[in-house]
Amino acid sequence: MSKKGPQFSMNSDRSAPFSCTIFPAVPSDVDRAFHDLSRDMDPNLVHVFLDKLQRYAAKPDRALFLAEHESKIIGFATIINRSDAPQGLDAAAVNLLQNYACGTGLMVLPEFRRRGVASIFVRYWEQWAQENGLSGVWVVTRQMGDWYRHCFQFSVLGTTVRHATEKTVLAKSIPRAQPVSVERSRTSWGR
Ligand SMILES: CC(C)(COP(=O)(O)OP(=O)(O)OC[C@H]1O[C@@H](n2cnc3c(N)ncnc32)[C@H](O)[C@@H]1OP(=O)(O)O)[C@@H](O)C(=O)NCCC(=O)NCCS
Repeated sequence: MSKKGPQFSMNSDRSAPFSCTIFPAVPSDVDRAFHDLSRDMDPNLVHVFLDKLQRYAAKPDRALFLAEHESKIIGFATIINRSDAPQGLDAAAVNLLQNYACGTGLMVLPEFRRRGVASIFVRYWEQWAQENGLSGVWVVTRQMGDWYRHCFQFSVLGTTVRHATEKTVLAKSIPRAQPVSVERSRTSWGR
């Protein structure tokens, strides 16, 4: 998936129709994304978040996906081609992750949750990994392990300790496919 890759629109059938577009960001999208997404963040950490958005929108070995609703950015997801496997995994797991992409951040603003936005982000992760010739996606999470397992069929590989907190490492293999270049397109559906 190129930096100018696809866009999806969706309608979610809650009390009112919900329309959202998800797209891979380019550097000129970063200021707006930072403005809209950083509002509830710890002021001491916002510079880290901005730096991350800038790097993921610019560098070719990673991607920043954004969700937009009524001209506001309401969520983001980041993925990187290869990242060092977390400490604490056994040798087989470390070996497996060498050819996996790492999902390094996923967030939807609270008022837009439970409308399927994150599900589309995870699908984008998988597609991005596939298009980059990788065999799967892995994530590290403190609390959302069951969510990744039940909603997206990730498997637990082990645990790791980061910033003195134990976290779960999960991974999902992705079927090999012919690399496809997805053009910008829109798809709508209801949930
Ligand atoms: C976790 C998060 C990304 C989910 O975003 P979302 O857009 O609400 O997720 P979706 O609407 O795509 O939900 C997908 C499924 O997960 C379920 N789900 C959503 N949030 C859930 C939660 N906190 N716990 C359990 N299930 C949850 C939904 O009901 C849905 O299931 P369904 O398809 O059977 O209805 C969002 O709550 C968030 O940003 N949380 C804070 C940051 C975070 O935890 N990031 C990810 C983990 S590292």
